[in-house]
Amino acid sequence: MAKLLYIQASPRRALSKSTHVAAEFLKSYWHAHQDDRIRTINVFHNSLPAFDGLAVQAKYAILHGKDHTVEERHVWNAVEKVIADFKDADKYLLSLPMWNFGIPYRLKQYIDVLVQPGYTFKVGENGYEGLVRGKPLLAIYSRGGAYPEDSPAEAVDLQKKYIELIFGFMGFENIQSIVVEPTLQGISEEVEKVIEASIEKARSMAEMF
Ligand SMILES: Cc1cc2nc3c(=O)[nH]c(=O)nc-3n(C[C@H](O)[C@H](O)[C@H](O)COP(=O)(O)O)c2cc1C
Repeated sequence: MAKLLYIQASPRRALSKSTHVAAEFLKSYWHAHQDDRIRTINVFHNSLPAFDGLAVQAKYAILHGKDHTVEERHVWNAVEKVIADFKDADKYLLSLPMWNFGIPYRLKQYIDVLVQPGYTFKVGENGYEGLVRGKPLLAIYSRGGAYPEDSPAEAVDLQKKYIELIFGFMGFENIQSIVVEPTLQGISEEVEKVIEASIEKARSMAEMF
């Protein structure tokens, strides 16, 4: 039995295109892996610890080998719980919209909680080393516009680039992707075709994931 963690990063519930494609992936995944356990976190709807001054103090206390104060211990317990829940999975599915060429702020908050030295990366003899290794990630990206590879628009796609960078930093080497675009351009029939093609791809990837 494998554990799949589904990280949902659109707040739009049933209206979300990235969530819709991910839901079709999960239906096929479930069919092919009936013993697996699927857990979902929505970064907008689940509570996340704030990564504010106190959390930063708690992080720096560890870096400087100091004991936590009671308040720092309290916030760090919450950070550790989020990281433990994340690392507990064997496989990861992430669905996210592009917001202002990057990622939604609540997903950034989740990442700021996750990416901690000694937990998801370390500084080894050869520099930074990711600690979440040997686990696949499928990222489903939706965007209003189109940012095709080798086009001038690709340069401003900081959504896919950032996800690949930061998950790579945590040790992920097998990062697969489905790009759902453009979702806000053209007539609705064209958008429908884009979504259908993405769902087809998602279904075909689910069995072997
Ligand atoms: C706050 C906000 C910012 C957005 N910024 C961009 C953007 O920079 N580029 C783009 O192509 N689409 C942008 N969009 C459009 C979304 O990426 C697009 O509608 C996407 O399909 C939404 O995915 P969802 O339905 O899963 O939430 C933005 C949408 C919102 C709400």
